[in-house]
Amino acid sequence: MMRKLFLLTCMAAALTLRVAAQEISIAKGWKFAIGDSTQWASPTYNDQNWKPISLAHSWESQGYKGEDGFGWYRLHVVIPSSIKEKAYLKDSVCIYLDAVDDNDEVYLNGKLVAKYGGKGSDIKTGNYGPRSYTIAANNPAILWDKENVLAIRIFDTGGDGGIYGNKFTIGMADLMDPVSINNDAEFSYGDNNSLNKAIKLTTTSNYVYKGKLAFKVTDPENNSVIYDKTNDVQFTAGKPFTYTFNIARLEKRSYRVSYTFTEEKSGKSITKTDGTPYVLTPYPSSKPQINGPDVYGARPGNPFLYLIPAGGKRPLIYAAEGLPDGLKLDVNTGIITGVVNQKGDYPVTLTVKNNLGANTKKFIIKIGDVIGLTPALGWNSWNAFGLSVNDEKVRVAAKTMIEKLSAHGWNFVNIDDGWEAEQRAASGEIVTNQKFPDMKATTDFVHSLGLKMGIYSSPGPRTCGGYLGSWQHEDQDAKTYGDWGIDYLKYDWCSYSEVTAKIPNLDDMKKPYQVMRASLDKIHRDIMFSFCQYGMGDVWKWGAEVGGNSWRSTGDITDTWKSMSDIGFNQIADGPYAQPGHFNDPDMLVVGKVGWGDNQHNTHLTPDEQYTHISLWSLLSSPLLIGCDMGKLDRFTLGLLTNDEVLAIDQDALGKSAKQAIKTDNYQVWIKDLADGGKAVGLFNISDQYQTITLNRDENDLKGLTKIRDVWQQKYLITSGNTYTAKVAPHGVMLVKLSK
Ligand code: GAL
Repeated sequence: MMRKLFLLTCMAAALTLRVAAQEISIAKGWKFAIGDSTQWASPTYNDQNWKPISLAHSWESQGYKGEDGFGWYRLHVVIPSSIKEKAYLKDSVCIYLDAVDDNDEVYLNGKLVAKYGGKGSDIKTGNYGPRSYTIAANNPAILWDKENVLAIRIFDTGGDGGIYGNKFTIGMADLMDPVSINNDAEFSYGDNNSLNKAIKLTTTSNYVYKGKLAFKVTDPENNSVIYDKTNDVQFTAGKPFTYTFNIARLEKRSYRVSYTFTEEKSGKSITKTDGTPYVLTPYPSSKPQINGPDVYGARPGNPFLYLIPAGGKRPLIYAAEGLPDGLKLDVNTGIITGVVNQKGDYPVTLTVKNNLGANTKKFIIKIGDVIGLTPALGWNSWNAFGLSVNDEKVRVAAKTMIEKLSAHGWNFVNIDDGWEAEQRAASGEIVTNQKFPDMKATTDFVHSLGLKMGIYSSPGPRTCGGYLGSWQHEDQDAKTYGDWGIDYLKYDWCSYSEVTAKIPNLDDMKKPYQVMRASLDKIHRDIMFSFCQYGMGDVWKWGAEVGGNSWRSTGDITDTWKSMSDIGFNQIADGPYAQPGHFNDPDMLVVGKVGWGDNQHNTHLTPDEQYTHISLWSLLSSPLLIGCDMGKLDRFTLGLLTNDEVLAIDQDALGKSAKQAIKTDNYQVWIKDLADGGKAVGLFNISDQYQTITLNRDENDLKGLTKIRDVWQQKYLITSGNTYTAKVAPHGVMLVKLSK
């Protein structure tokens, strides 16, 4: 997001321990007021009557329940010049705030010195997160050795708000603060599957950094060192140092790679780590194979669209026996279209052929009241592009889906926030902004490929991104979506708190979804309805009754182990509510190149964490919405997203969520019942060391299930006796299917 006012970033210092004398804590002594006033930035403003506030918790938990919007924090603090003495870089001061919810402006003695979030002059959009602001040590806003007034203006978009966390400091920027080890380049595969990668050491400081770069590859199972190489390096602003390594083919698992730069004068060092990628999904076969769910639901009288997902060498020829009246199949594309008027369950036999053979699959089309019988599989623009999504990016996503993913069942192309205008048309109709010149044309294009189109809105006057919401225009918006041909609506909560009770009760929480449900019911389209209110009011208990096909059960995900694992392994209370047509949504996928804006980076999840992410979300029967730049799918990510046996677990017709069966400090086992009587089991290592995890068939209803299959590698495992034991990598998973 926007970070205009600071010069360099002091993140590294925030994450490493540093000499205490170089910084002071600003964790205590703050005062607080709800509301907004320009005077509150002023050092002479009298805040004597403001209430004290702790930075350990949100403002909600300190007497400001239900307060969203603006709030101010003020602190009187002496900044001693002695903190400069031990610092190598004496020119930059760092203010570190360990999480701001959601956006902020930082004033030092009345002057704006840093800011996060917002469009133009407001700070109403952005993201919760840590802030590390760097300002020049000679900035006249800093009063050295005197009392300073630090005033922070916060805008909370909803839910918890404020400044809260563990570490809050003002200090000199550390020598390593302006240094970064950029390991964002992709691992590439050379001859014989050797792995290559280029690492860059960069700095924004004019200081000339000299020292050593140690490159090390270790086996995480026994910590043995496989490669170890140290190079002399030198770099400064504008003159980075690049190191390229090439390591020979490794086994099918992830190795730990570390890059450590040690500066020679100070002895200080920084380290970055990687995990080597490894592809488990078998190489796709040329023989024809039908993938995708066993059941598909549509409503009578509404337009029907289904692309038969099929792998194998093109061209493929499709056939469908037993299609209900009103449907027709294009035998060359596999797209089924039409309208069925008669309710009922229609068993169909699908066939696909190429010059290497044929494959058939039994499939049931259920024409009735419930759609979305299996969780949605698709792409959503948010985790990749945030508000910078545009028409071209959406078309790239659709084309890529057809080229690389639809054969495995992926079919939704969903535009998140950022497509709407800021003003409605004179008629009150919703209109797009200039990034989407013709939504109908885009939707037609997506449909022509056999794919479906999704869109986003919010029940308040504004979306979370500050664009138009549907407040008091629900009927009109639903009609517009229908005219465009929209198939999926993600409906947020943002700014609805401005128009409902300060502390909404259950009825208040249901209301906006009931209103939009009624509006959607007036148009003749099957539109998947996805609630995005972060789990408020235990939405899983009432989401189905209010007509949701899925509901977010958590806040927003990010691409860290903490975020992904905290969310994924806590899907317990909501589990029993998953059922065909109605699923819990622990938020979208964070694999591939993510970025929430203009710049994308490779996900910060390690390869093993990514296997965990996809396995766990599949076990939970979650909608799988890819959140990456689809134009840049690498081989590893593609392997994660195209494993038909893994996707079959997610798409299982029973629609149940896995249950946590075993939980220890180091590992967890989750078990999901499957429609064929088998069980999908995830053995998850949540620790930092290899773990040996044992599954006992006498426990957890596994009796009689004698066959055991490694789902990622798609092969049966040979086991004897009643137990199955797997060695599982740190933060990794062994996903198996047990059957009779
Ligand atoms: C958030 C939502 C995100 C994204 C964003 C758009 O509330 O959780 O997934 O939709 O709004 O502004």
